[in-house]
Amino acid sequence: MWEIRKRFKDYEQRKVFAGVLDEQTLFTLYKLSNKGAFDVLYGFVKKGKESSVILAEQKDGRFVAVKVHAISAATFKRIWPYLEGDSRFYNIRHNKRAVIFAWCKKEFKNLSTAYKAGVLCPEPVAQLNNVIVMEFLGEDLTPAPRMCDVDFEDEKLIENIFKDVVENIKKLYSAKLVHGDLSFYNMLWYKEKPYFIDFSQGVPLSHPNAEYLLRRDIENVCKNFAKLGLTVNPEKIYEEVVSS
Ligand SMILES: Nc1ncnc2c1ncn2[C@@H]1O[C@H](COP(=O)(O)OP(=O)(O)O)[C@@H](O)[C@H]1O
Ligand SMILES: [Mg+2]
Repeated sequence: MWEIRKRFKDYEQRKVFAGVLDEQTLFTLYKLSNKGAFDVLYGFVKKGKESSVILAEQKDGRFVAVKVHAISAATFKRIWPYLEGDSRFYNIRHNKRAVIFAWCKKEFKNLSTAYKAGVLCPEPVAQLNNVIVMEFLGEDLTPAPRMCDVDFEDEKLIENIFKDVVENIKKLYSAKLVHGDLSFYNMLWYKEKPYFIDFSQGVPLSHPNAEYLLRRDIENVCKNFAKLGLTVNPEKIYEEVVSS
């Protein structure tokens, strides 16, 4: 049953994985690998209390990112406020695991919607339980840097990146989705473009908080750009997005 361990690239990695991922998650990874979502697991891109991201390779040599939401009290505590009051989750509210699975499914659905709408984001590959598999953004086993970790200096480039970011927000909006946690922390600088990641907090436009979250996303992004010396009016951008 725990054949998934053979999928880890080498013995050292196996030990690292075993220490972080619980048995149930290992079994989910095993099932996903059997379905062809990936073949070999390389190592952690990011290791965290609530979520980890692993670099993996498919049989055809394509690299994917495997995002694992920890089945933990900490994860439950963080995500429950977003789901509380949503009648769809009423029946599972006492089941931490089921709530985390539903959260993960929602993230994958949001990512798929975004990708289909032409937003710059990783291509979705597969999802099961608390695991999401998507295109790996990076080169030579190195993940693309987060936008908050890049030193942008060229004024013209910064203006163009801003245009691309606004374009992404508009495309999301036209697909009736708001990211909900947008800032340079959830954007990767890949192929000279800003890619959106981490759609777990995304909400449909029909959600009661959608307008608030959209305004907040735009304000956060404008703050990020203000630090790079670009003055932009969030209110104007908001109007531009909702009238697009
Ligand atoms: N598709 C991807 N390709 C490359 N790196 C990724 C990818 N998805 C996530 N990462 C890396 O993992 C980190 C955490 O991912 P994220 O989805 O933001 O999870 P969270 O913020 O919930 O921990 C990102 O900041 C990025 O460095
Ligand atoms: Mg994030």
